[in-house]
Amino acid sequence: MQEYSLLVSYFGEQLKLIDTENRNRLIEVFKEVPEDFYYKPSTSSNRYHNSIDNLTHGLLYHTRRVCIHLESIMKSYTMVVGEIKKVDIDSLRTAAILHDICKWSLNGTHTNANHDTLGSDYAKSKGFNDLVCEAIRYHSGYWSTDLLKNGGKGLREIPHFTLILMLHLADMTASSADDVMFIGNPETFDFDAMRNNRGKEGYDVRWW
Ligand SMILES: [Fe+2]
Repeated sequence: MQEYSLLVSYFGEQLKLIDTENRNRLIEVFKEVPEDFYYKPSTSSNRYHNSIDNLTHGLLYHTRRVCIHLESIMKSYTMVVGEIKKVDIDSLRTAAILHDICKWSLNGTHTNANHDTLGSDYAKSKGFNDLVCEAIRYHSGYWSTDLLKNGGKGLREIPHFTLILMLHLADMTASSADDVMFIGNPETFDFDAMRNNRGKEGYDVRWW
């Protein structure tokens, strides 16, 4: 299926960083949910997110930017606070790709407000580890479905709170109206050219 191979290419650089077990699981997920994840915008209301995210493939653009911001946040944390375990970095990278996987999926007209819990349950059903599932479940921070039942409180008490917060911060940053970093249309972008010309003039894209 074309969508499947384009997804693997689109997240290729990120997938390379992830260990074999999680990578294989992600690739299986790509085979299963290409339609919504591949074509839909990131929002149905246009109230949150920027104008790029509202386009076709907007959810992909948003997801890629979350991956990029997560790298910056993890790097800063490592420099200032201390090392993050490789296995946890791997889980957060995996969760970043998956965090909005259930944003649409139940009906075609409006995004799922509880996509955080749906996505977490989906990841669990696919065998992803606890940190991946919990990072997805609480990626909306204060506004996470499971926390809003308690008035938005309780994130600090969740195991792996600091790690989970990193994905939330990456998601918040990528959802800002000002976050308009262009990262390539999956159908027209020349990924091979970007890889082969990394660092050369005209190919100065952050992610590469
Ligand atoms: Fe998101």
